[in-house]
Amino acid sequence: MAKVLLARRFPDSIIARAERLFDVTLHDSPDPLDQSAREAALSEYDGIMATLGDTFPASAFPAARTKIIANFGVGYNHIDAAAAAQAGVMVTNTPGVLTDATADIAMTLMLMAARRAGEGERMLRAGNWQGWHPTQLMGEDVTGRTLGIIGFGRIGQAMARKAHYGFGMRIVFHNRSPKTADFPAEQLGSIEEVCATADVVAIHAPGGNRHLIDAKALAAMKPTGILINTARGDVVDEAALIDALEQRRIFAAGLDVYDQEPHVPARLMALENAVLLPHLGSASLLVREAMGNMALDNLDAFFAGRPVPNPTPE
Ligand code: DGY
Repeated sequence: MAKVLLARRFPDSIIARAERLFDVTLHDSPDPLDQSAREAALSEYDGIMATLGDTFPASAFPAARTKIIANFGVGYNHIDAAAAAQAGVMVTNTPGVLTDATADIAMTLMLMAARRAGEGERMLRAGNWQGWHPTQLMGEDVTGRTLGIIGFGRIGQAMARKAHYGFGMRIVFHNRSPKTADFPAEQLGSIEEVCATADVVAIHAPGGNRHLIDAKALAAMKPTGILINTARGDVVDEAALIDALEQRRIFAAGLDVYDQEPHVPARLMALENAVLLPHLGSASLLVREAMGNMALDNLDAFFAGRPVPNPTPE
């Protein structure tokens, strides 16, 4: 039986299935192992089921024993997949199963940021609501407006589809390679062009694209523009975004991800025009179970010598 480390407390059904398949050691905690324990695990286990926060930098390799790291999650920029591949360690991920859940959180953030819902809830809970009045908490509309998607992959397209069919939004997007969709969507030539054209700009590019949305891109946005990020925090220049929000150069932001999670800058926390969620994109029981089962399928196929369903590109 393969010796497998579950590097985090995953949903109960996933732990139970893992224990039927492998000789399992469970790191029974919501928090990651410390870096030295995690790197030591590469000498103790045949496989590791890891997730966000379980960093495996290039310096962690070569691995004395581990042959596969099955990531619970679609984003795997916390693992140096090129260094792992060079060391003969396969890295897998869990694409597809969290597409709608993550797009739903992007829609939630878009609506909350546009309609100032977080601000309103804070006001009410603080006992500061004096009653309805005609100019209270006026926001921006999304229906019929333009949504700009940065990174037109599975999740970007899912959000665009929901926004187009649900809210009549016009869709423009930027993607490194040419892309088409089964609904009306126009590919624009640059990120700045998308930022200048769209009323809402939603980021769906993978982590590792550091500061793809930089001060220049933010400066191109409309003063009524809204920035949504459910991808990875490093994709946005967080300091430049805070400046733009503080100076009201854009209307609002809705964020589910941060550059140095779980740290959220105090200046960002202080902003009324920022809706801030704690990386909830895939956080539903069904989706987390599906992610866990996919990660286990990858481990199981690997140790059974079958083709592995979801190897990552290096
Ligand atoms: C993902 O799957 O990438 C989620 O953000 C959790 O890591």
